[in-house]
Amino acid sequence: MNIIFLLTLAYLLGSIPTAVWVSKRVYGLDIRDHGSGNAGATNTFRVLGKKAGIWVMIVDMLKGFAAVKLCYLSAHPIHSEAMVNLQVGLGLAAVVGHIFPIWAGFRGGKGIATLFGMILAIQYYVAFSLVGVFLAMLFLTNYVSLSSIAASVAFPVLILFIFKDKAPEISYKLFAIATACMVVLTHHKNISRLLAGNESKVKLIKRNK
Ligand code: G3P
Repeated sequence: MNIIFLLTLAYLLGSIPTAVWVSKRVYGLDIRDHGSGNAGATNTFRVLGKKAGIWVMIVDMLKGFAAVKLCYLSAHPIHSEAMVNLQVGLGLAAVVGHIFPIWAGFRGGKGIATLFGMILAIQYYVAFSLVGVFLAMLFLTNYVSLSSIAASVAFPVLILFIFKDKAPEISYKLFAIATACMVVLTHHKNISRLLAGNESKVKLIKRNK
């Protein structure tokens, strides 16, 4: 199938504004006017609770995962470099769609869950290693944003040093570096709040006094 058509399809898939639709259609409010104002799973957990947050997280992850799997509609041989390039392109198109969704006035989320789904589809062991980094950081700091940033910075480190033989394609290495930069950019407001000391925390463990 035509590559431009597949990339457009991946963008439209990523554009599904899960948090916006769930908040508007089920709860009668726009998630972007509440909490951090972000149309993502974290803010949905924060504003609408566990059930809505889990649904948004799963669907946002699936968007990245499914976008990568669109590669099978192309004529590229399965383990070729062209296939890896296409997978990265499709996943990125979905992440761009998530951040700038055509179905929600181009005001979307920060791309974390969709990026995770994309990496899971390409290299599941890298995705699980990143979950480890995310959870360790969350346990230590209770900041979701800082944990997302730490995991995205760990991504190029894993690709360039730890799993370097498993991901020899230059496009994947560049993608990993670009991802870390992109996540820092999408979290610029969180970074300002972290520096000012007023970023919101999550309580992972309730300690009895
Ligand atoms: O996945 C987004 C997360 O890292 C930060 O979300 O709502 O705290 O800005 P939020």
